[in-house]
Amino acid sequence: MADAGNAVQTLADVIAETAPAELVGDGFLTVVGAIADGAKRVDGLTRRAALAGVLGDTGEMNVQGEIVQVLDAAGTDAFVSSLRDCGAVAALACEELEEAVFVSDAADHPYIALFDPVDGSSNIDVAVTIGSIFAIYKRTDDAPVTETTLLRPGREQCGAVYVVYGSSTVLVVATEGRVDGFTLDPVSGEFLHSHNEIRIPSKCAAYSVNEGNQGNWHPEMQAAVADLRDAYGLRYVGSLVADFHRDLLKGGIFLYPGDVKSPAGKLRLGYEANPLCYVAEQAGGAGTTGVERILDVQPELLHQRTPLIVGNADVVERVVAKLAE
Ligand code: AHG
Ligand code: MN
Ligand code: MN
Repeated sequence: MADAGNAVQTLADVIAETAPAELVGDGFLTVVGAIADGAKRVDGLTRRAALAGVLGDTGEMNVQGEIVQVLDAAGTDAFVSSLRDCGAVAALACEELEEAVFVSDAADHPYIALFDPVDGSSNIDVAVTIGSIFAIYKRTDDAPVTETTLLRPGREQCGAVYVVYGSSTVLVVATEGRVDGFTLDPVSGEFLHSHNEIRIPSKCAAYSVNEGNQGNWHPEMQAAVADLRDAYGLRYVGSLVADFHRDLLKGGIFLYPGDVKSPAGKLRLGYEANPLCYVAEQAGGAGTTGVERILDVQPELLHQRTPLIVGNADVVERVVAKLAE
């Protein structure tokens, strides 16, 4: 946590000092800054919500087959424009847009971003914590970016970011071997360093799953969750970012399994599971489909879904072992 005695560092200061040199020298700060700018806009809308006219839905259906909330659309606009205009992103993909957005093939646009602009949309209208999630990749060459170049396994991410708009607004950045948190200061309007070198605690404090889906789980998943139920308390916000952030800071395991109705589950690989499992692994945790490491999955489709089990590595391993019994 920030030490009150020291001057609190800004997002830019800390990333410049701690991110791998090849990223800092190549515009990574610009990408994280664009995400932070978009997050400030979403935060401003979220805090005013009804007063800003961002409650309710647009009446539109997105590629996920879900009704688009007004804030989903506003968040999409905020992050697409900040990432497209930042000058370091070659292409981006967004949960709310069926097709990727191709910005520039110039060599000075080395990054690719896949993101969920507003996560936990069912919670917007009831003032419960929501979030935004970003997977960041570096282009491997100067070849023109195509949709295929966006379909890379999560282990190739160079960084991941999420924002949780909760009782405070916290932006978390992960790069190789390091995770830091920054709290939005309403006075200065800056994200200030508040969580130094986050590591998931060794003790799991809770399990997090929608128990209402229990009847649809396969028997081995029912047995695995029963094992967790005996060992831990249940915490479930219904916003992936909120549940994940709690588990990262307090220890815990989050599960959104596949089931008989939806074998691949609900959550999306590219901009929910991959970035959060990247964060988890840099903080000492683990993330799996139940069968394989999430970050090793080779995506076939931009919006493909995946079962997700993420949190304390020992508990994740215990669930995987139980599922294999
Ligand atoms: P999104 O709002 O981006 O579509 O994500 C919603 C997801 C995720 O945030 C959460 O973990 C999950 O939906 C909750 O699903 P259930 O309501 O089915 O539990
Ligand atoms: Mn989401
Ligand atoms: Mn979303």
